[in-house]
Amino acid sequence: MTTIGAEGRPNIITIGASSICSSNPPIVGVAIGRAQYSLELIKETGDFGVNLPSADQMKQTDICGTRSGQTVDKFSACGFTVQPGSQIRTPLIEECPVSMECELVQSVPLGNHEWVMGKIVAVHVDEEILDEAGNLDSGKAQPLLGVWGEYWTLGEKLGDWHYTRS
Ligand SMILES: Cc1cc2nc3c(=O)[nH]c(=O)nc-3n(C[C@H](O)[C@H](O)[C@H](O)COP(=O)(O)O)c2cc1C
Repeated sequence: MTTIGAEGRPNIITIGASSICSSNPPIVGVAIGRAQYSLELIKETGDFGVNLPSADQMKQTDICGTRSGQTVDKFSACGFTVQPGSQIRTPLIEECPVSMECELVQSVPLGNHEWVMGKIVAVHVDEEILDEAGNLDSGKAQPLLGVWGEYWTLGEKLGDWHYTRS
């Protein structure tokens, strides 16, 4: 995810712990360590970006998850382009196939992390990963997944949600 803070220096943090929390209004939640620099920046500006990397962005994802923005310009270190947001101050990562602009709704302290929730106010999706009906095609997107300390991508499609209902 991306942040900027009061000084206006864009930063990136790799987040594995995330979930959609509400579909109406659309709200996404992420668990951020209470000592993370990125958490400080989100609280300064009240917004953040959620940028979903593809499998071929594994190296950049690992760099953003192992260096702090306090000392490293992670956009430069990764060769990523700063994409201005349309509704928020925080910029997005142009190279990521899916990006969401989020306004901070609430942050709940939970042990050594905070559950940070943001309302999604704009979504950007690369056209190459859409199917003919304009829906996101996970096979084309090849998202990068973090599973128990390892990086994976998706295998084969098994079925559609609710397929047992009819
Ligand atoms: C695959 C992966 C997943 C991670 N998930 C989280 C997470 O869910 N929450 C968190 O606070 N840090 C997570 N981290 C660690 C942060 O990305 C890392 O501490 C980062 O350097 C913090 O950046 P900052 O100091 O610029 O905020 C993860 C790291 C990796 C490599």
